[in-house]
Amino acid sequence: MKRIVILISGRGSNMESLIRAQRAGELGEARIVAVLSNRPDARGLLTAAAAGIHAEALDHKQYPDRESFDAALMSAIDAHQPDLVVLAGFLRILSEGFVRHYSGRLLNIHPSLLPAFPGLHTHQRALEAGVRLHGCSVHFVTPTLDHGPIVLQAAVPVLDDDDKERLAARVLAEEHLIYPRAVRWFVEGRLAIEGLCVRVQGEQRENALRAPDLAR
Ligand code: GRF
Repeated sequence: MKRIVILISGRGSNMESLIRAQRAGELGEARIVAVLSNRPDARGLLTAAAAGIHAEALDHKQYPDRESFDAALMSAIDAHQPDLVVLAGFLRILSEGFVRHYSGRLLNIHPSLLPAFPGLHTHQRALEAGVRLHGCSVHFVTPTLDHGPIVLQAAVPVLDDDDKERLAARVLAEEHLIYPRAVRWFVEGRLAIEGLCVRVQGEQRENALRAPDLAR
């Protein structure tokens, strides 16, 4: 049984999609053992606790610098002996030591088709750049922000009358589909990292791309 710890900072809808997937038996032999947040007021903590999952806040404002917070966070995570750490809307830049500690077992979801639009405000930036395709990416985390090997992406069309809220909602619906699928592949031991590329063993290459409704 693989043990999963999820890190959040707010709403936690991606975390919820993982909890739902676990309940439906769609994560394989895995159990979400803890949800941790750097913000005590993260709404997702209540959702996790209501689902019977250990939910804990470590307020980053209580620590003098990034290194000391990351060290405390690592101890809190490691107390649960995770095989996989999943960032789900965790809005903190992580120190290199943290990222190296979880190398190969740290996943993130980013709301753009990486390597386009790393960082914040991705939906607004996609609209301003006039791209016709936008989406989301699940990737392994490396010390370079939003840059690690990509496991799975989903693309959505950018429509003429989109604003950033409508576009964000269309992308979020895809996030909720691809994150559980990527986590299941990890749990099944099917992800092999080769440089910046991820090979998904026993899976058609095209299954690492969801591109629904592009013709709308
Ligand atoms: C998602 O769009 C995720 O891609 C980004 O932050 C947002 C978090 O949403 N990293 P939620 O907390 O999972 O609802």
